[in-house]
Amino acid sequence: MRDQPFFTQQDLDDANFDPHRDLGEPGQFPYTRGIQPTMYRGRLWTMRQYAGMGDAEASNLRYKFLLANGTAGLSVAFDLPTQIGYDSDDPMALGEVGKVGVAIDSIEDMERLFAGIPLDKISTSMTINSTASILLALYVAVARRHNIPLGKLSGTVQNDVLKEYIARGTYIYPVHHALRIVTDMLAWTTTNVPEWNTISISGYHMREAGSTAAQELAFTLANAIAYVQTALDAGMEIDAFAPRLSFFFNAHNDLFEEIAKFRAARRLWAHIMRDRFAAKNPRSWMLRFHTQTAGSTLTAQQPENNIVRTTLQALAAVLGGTQSLHTNGYDEALALPTEEAARIALRTQQILAHESGVAQSIDPLAGSYFLESLTNDIERQVQEYFAQIEAMSGMLKAIERGWVQQEIQNAAYRHQQQVDSGEVVVVGVNRYSQEEDPDIPTQTIDENLERQQVDRVRALRLRRNQQRCQSAIDAVTDAARNGANLMPAILEAVESCATVGEIAGAMRKVFGEYRESVVV
Ligand code: 3HC
Repeated sequence: MRDQPFFTQQDLDDANFDPHRDLGEPGQFPYTRGIQPTMYRGRLWTMRQYAGMGDAEASNLRYKFLLANGTAGLSVAFDLPTQIGYDSDDPMALGEVGKVGVAIDSIEDMERLFAGIPLDKISTSMTINSTASILLALYVAVARRHNIPLGKLSGTVQNDVLKEYIARGTYIYPVHHALRIVTDMLAWTTTNVPEWNTISISGYHMREAGSTAAQELAFTLANAIAYVQTALDAGMEIDAFAPRLSFFFNAHNDLFEEIAKFRAARRLWAHIMRDRFAAKNPRSWMLRFHTQTAGSTLTAQQPENNIVRTTLQALAAVLGGTQSLHTNGYDEALALPTEEAARIALRTQQILAHESGVAQSIDPLAGSYFLESLTNDIERQVQEYFAQIEAMSGMLKAIERGWVQQEIQNAAYRHQQQVDSGEVVVVGVNRYSQEEDPDIPTQTIDENLERQQVDRVRALRLRRNQQRCQSAIDAVTDAARNGANLMPAILEAVESCATVGEIAGAMRKVFGEYRESVVV
């Protein structure tokens, strides 16, 4: 619980708050009030619902359902085998094919995933990290099959491998090899797919793992600094790639803290890019982000309550100036969202956008004694974490030592103690609970799907030009070994019908695999 009951001008004076210096106008440095001069008055945030299940056809149907209901951008969820570089017929994939997202093995699956969707007219986010280079190549290959100029493609690959070592876990290669792939992608997309956002530096999953709001922001920005430094060390010029860095944050329960977190994020990043990295292009200074409402707050008990939680969290994201937003389905503590739950989630955004009035005024809470004090306080906490990370010689070392992971685990433990003691109330769970919870319909995945997907990928291998495919796979291994940019070889490999698992394996041969350090 917050100790101070109310805030006054004195709190702002004590923090040496200067509205001109610390806020600026919307669309002006340091962007505290938003990155666009007109924000949602000029263009609403992108309603971008994360979706993907089963096989390409099932996911394609869900995308078309969402588009028909008003979603403005696609967001692809992949199954775990795709995320960690195993084909659907790999023994490692058994039981996971199509479970937490769509199974993609080849260019033919990718073709089916986007069938009937104009890739030059919609932006597509792909939540893919260790195999992001392969999925980006597959997306580009499908566009090339449809004669879509690559300059017309817009979208994002998450491609944030560092947070995988910290919180999400879908890593493959050792850190420095994974960072090399990210840098190769930054260089390649800058030239070949200039509208593409090559990385979505994510705090979402660290927050889901139990971090505080300040840790979420501090560790995300520290990861971002590590990516920027790695790209600069590889000889890239800051303004060549920085405008296409993007971010991804969680919108959690504490409404005002979340709004303050987003505002502090923009101000911190603007100073980091201008003052620390001497970026000259204002687009390099702007922190553009996507937000997802907090999955970890969804309860299986009284699931309809989740509609209210998600609404408040979405409100925080909008009042915090998000560029793109996903709202969770009320049933997602139980399963992937049903169509009905996905529709309610989208309607939640539409009601916020069109009925609540919150899109009509830019950063309406600015100047609030409370909110500006919160923004200053989060910024201060983040700076303190930065100092600790710098003292450990940077984020890569802090991750390799397991320090970041330990900080998050400690925060998660403290929070769970507060829930267990009832100090933190979870309505329907540790207070206002009820004997019986209503049965609600949940999304199921066709059990035959795995077999069908296995048959599909095996049939593809039998009918493809094996010689062309094998030499393309070998070229990926060669590029991994000789330091050439990996993307051209990966693109040729996917176009020769090499599979995700084969291409990821071609790199495994050279890079090996990451081994988690034990946090003592
Ligand atoms: N005035 C003028 N122009 C405006 C404007 C305004 N008011 N508002 C927006 N625009 C312009 C923008 O400048 C942009 O043009 P540009 O590309 O030339 O700059 C265009 O309109 C589109 O606007 P945005 O780029 O702001 O919005 P997008 O939605 O296209 O992009 C993003 C948002 C954050 C930059 C992008 O990176 C993105 O879409 N990210 C999404 C990431 C995502 O969906 N992740 C899901 C992860 S799910 C997950 O990981 C959880 C799971 O693991 C459980």
